[in-house]
Amino acid sequence: STHTQSSKPPPHTPPSHTQPPVHTLLLHTHNPPHTLHTLHTHNPPHPLHTLHTHNPPHPPPHTPPSHTQPPVTELYCSGCEVCVCEVCALGEHADHPTGPLLAALGTHRDGLQERLTAAQNRLPQISEALVSLREILQQLTNQRALIEEDIHISFEELHKTLDVRKSVLLMELEVTYGLKQKVLQAQLDTLLHGQGGIVDTCTQTEKALSGEARAASLQAERGLGERLRDLASQGLPFQAEENDQLDLLMETEGLRKSIHKLGTIITTSAVASQSEASGVGLEQCIVGLPACVTIMTRDKAGGPCRSGNAILSAEVCTPDGSVADGEILDYKNGTYDFVYTVNKEGEFSLALRLYDQHIKGSPFRLRVTRSPDPEGAKRRGKSPGSKKKGSRRTGSALGTPRRKENPIEDDLIFRIGTKGRNKGEFTNLQGVSASSNGRILIADSNNQCVQIFSNEGEFNSRFGVRGRSPGQLQRPTGVAVHPNGDIIIADYDNKWVSIFSSEGKYKAKLGSGRLMGPKGVSVDQNGHVIVVDNKACTVFIFQPTGKLVSKFGSRGNGDKQFAGPHFAAVNNNNEIIVTDFHNHSVKVFTPEGELLLKFGSNGEGNGQFNAPTGVAVDVNGNIIVADWGNSRIQVFDGSGSFLSYINTSADPLYGPQGLALTSDGHVVVADSGNHCFKVYRYLQ
Ligand SMILES: *[C@@H]1O[C@H](CO)[C@@H](O)[C@H](O)[C@H]1NC(C)=O
Ligand SMILES: *[C@@H]1O[C@H](CO)[C@@H](O)[C@H](O)[C@H]1NC(C)=O
Ligand SMILES: *[C@@H]1O[C@H](CO)[C@@H](O)[C@H](O)[C@H]1NC(C)=O
Repeated sequence: STHTQSSKPPPHTPPSHTQPPVHTLLLHTHNPPHTLHTLHTHNPPHPLHTLHTHNPPHPPPHTPPSHTQPPVTELYCSGCEVCVCEVCALGEHADHPTGPLLAALGTHRDGLQERLTAAQNRLPQISEALVSLREILQQLTNQRALIEEDIHISFEELHKTLDVRKSVLLMELEVTYGLKQKVLQAQLDTLLHGQGGIVDTCTQTEKALSGEARAASLQAERGLGERLRDLASQGLPFQAEENDQLDLLMETEGLRKSIHKLGTIITTSAVASQSEASGVGLEQCIVGLPACVTIMTRDKAGGPCRSGNAILSAEVCTPDGSVADGEILDYKNGTYDFVYTVNKEGEFSLALRLYDQHIKGSPFRLRVTRSPDPEGAKRRGKSPGSKKKGSRRTGSALGTPRRKENPIEDDLIFRIGTKGRNKGEFTNLQGVSASSNGRILIADSNNQCVQIFSNEGEFNSRFGVRGRSPGQLQRPTGVAVHPNGDIIIADYDNKWVSIFSSEGKYKAKLGSGRLMGPKGVSVDQNGHVIVVDNKACTVFIFQPTGKLVSKFGSRGNGDKQFAGPHFAAVNNNNEIIVTDFHNHSVKVFTPEGELLLKFGSNGEGNGQFNAPTGVAVDVNGNIIVADWGNSRIQVFDGSGSFLSYINTSADPLYGPQGLALTSDGHVVVADSGNHCFKVYRYLQ
C-alpha cells in the first residue's frame, strides 16, 4: 500500500491480565481506603514498621514502647500482607510465611514499575487515536460547511430558474394578450367608426327630411341618399375576430412533489473496525480472471448498515505498488462487491478501507496463481492475462501476416520515474495527457498530485494537496488539457472533476453530486469536458462551466452500455472513443451517444484485449490502446482494424494505464505497475 497508513502496532493488551500479580504491601487491607503513603501519616516520626501498630487486630502486648528502638530486622507477612516486627513474626504470625521487608518492598516496586510502564505504553495509542479522531471531526466539519454552501448555491440557482420562468410566462402572457387585444380593438374601432358614420348621416338626413322639400337642397339630399345607401350595405365586422381565451396551465403537483424530495444528505454509520469482508477473492485468485470480495458494512455496535454510498477503497499491491484493477459495486443495501483482476502471480496484500481506515482483518494476504487445477493449466494458453512478459510475440505469430508489415522495432525512447513520493517519482500513476505546448501531464493517483514534464522528460512542476475539499485531490486518475490551457483532473474518490489553471491554481470543480467514480477525462472539439464515470458506467459531457451538456451509458453489455469504462479520447470528427475494461472492447460513439463502432474481444491475439485502459487517437483517426492485462499497446485504424503493436519488448510494460500522443508525435504511456511513464516512437 502506498497510503501513509502503515499497519498499526498490535492492539495493546490490557496490562492487568498479563502482569504477574503485584505484591503490593497491602498494608491496609484492613483499612481499604488507605493507600501507601498513609503509612506515614499516623505517626510521622515513627519509622515504617509502625504502620501495623494501628491495625486493630494487633495484640495489646505489642505496645509502642517496645518499638522505640529500631528493630533488628523488618519483616513482611505475605499471608496477611502486612509488615510485622520480629516480635509479631514470632508471635501472631508465627505460622505465616514471612520474609524480609526490603525484599517485599522490592517486589512491590517492581510490580508498580511494570504497571507504570504498561499504563504509559497506552499513551501513544491514545495520541494516535486522538489525532485520527480530530482529523475525522475536522473533515466532518469541513464537509458540513461545503454542503451547506452547495445547498445554498443549488437553491439560489433554482430560485433564479424559477424567476426566469416566471418572467418568461409573464412576458408570454403580455405578448399573447397584446396580439389578441389589438385585433379586438381594431374591430371595435372599425365598428365605432361605422356606427358614428351611420348616426351622423342619419341625423343629417332626418334633419333634411323634417325641413321643406326644396329644389335647392336636392343636390345635398341626393348626396345623403348615396351615403345612406353605401352605409346600409357597408361591410362591417360584426363577428368577433378574436376570442377571449387566456388560460394558464401549470402542472405544479409533480414539481412540488419533486421539490419535496429534492436533495438527500448521504451518509452511513458504518465504521471500519466492525465492517467485514468475505469471499474467496479475499485469499486467492487466478491471474487475469475476475475475483470478488464482498464487504458488509457495520456500525459501531456491529449492527449491519442497510444503506449504500459508503466511501470504500480497495487496493491489491506489493510493496512496489498496485497490481490489480477493479471496481467496487454498491448494492445500496450496505453490501458492496469488490470485483478485481490481478495481472501477475504472487503473494500480495489486499487492502480494504472504509473511510480511509482498514476494515476488520485488512490488509489481507492474497495468493495469486496462474491456474487452480491441471485442467486450467491446459487451458492456460488461452486464459486471459495469463501471458508472460514478451509472449506478445507468440500472440503476434498466431495473428495475421500483416504484423510483418509492422515497421516498428523496439520503440522505447526513454522512461521516467521510479516508485516514490518525490518529484519525478510516482505511486500508481494513472492518467496521462499531453499539451499542445510540449508538456506531458501525469495523474499520480496515490501521491495525490499532477506532475508535469517536458516532451523530453524533464521535470517541470507538480501540484496537488491531498484532501476531500474543493481544490484538493484524493485520487486523481484522469488528466486532460483544455485548449485554453486549463488542466482538468478526474478525481475518482472525490467524485468530481477539478479544473486548475496551467499554473496549478484551483479554479472550479464540476460534476459534483452527479459523478460516482470519474476515471478518465478528455476534451472534445467544442471544448466540452468528456468524463468517463467508471462506477456509473456513464460518459458525461460538461461545459467547462460545469453545465451538463449530455450523458450516455449505463452498466451492462448492451449497445449503449459499459461493463467498466476507463478512459476516452476524441477524434477529429468529434467522436468519442471509450475503452470498456471489463467488456475487453473499445467503443466509438457519436457526440450524441449513438454507438458507431465496437471492436475487440477478450484474448491475446492481434486486436484482442485483456482489459483495455488508456486510449488516444492520432490526426488520421488511428486509435492507440493500452492493453492493461496483456501489458502491451496496440494500434488500430479508424474502423477498428488492427494495425500494429508498439514494440515494448525491450523493457516490458506492467499494467499500462493512461496513454496520450505528445505534441511531437510520440506515444506516452503510464506504466503503472512499474511506477514510471514511457515515451515511444509512433509510426515513424
Ligand atoms: C444486498 O443486495 C445484494 C444484491 O441484490 C444481495 O446479494 C445481498 O444479499 C444484499 N445484502 C443484504 C445485507 O441484504
Ligand atoms: C521489438 O524490438 C526488438 C528489439 O528490441 C526486436 O528484437 C523485436 O523483433 C521487435 N519485435 C517486433 C514484434 O517488432
Ligand atoms: C461485451 O459486450 C457484448 C455486447 O456488446 C457482449 O455480447 C459480450 O458478451 C461482452 N463481453 C464480455 C466479455 O462481457
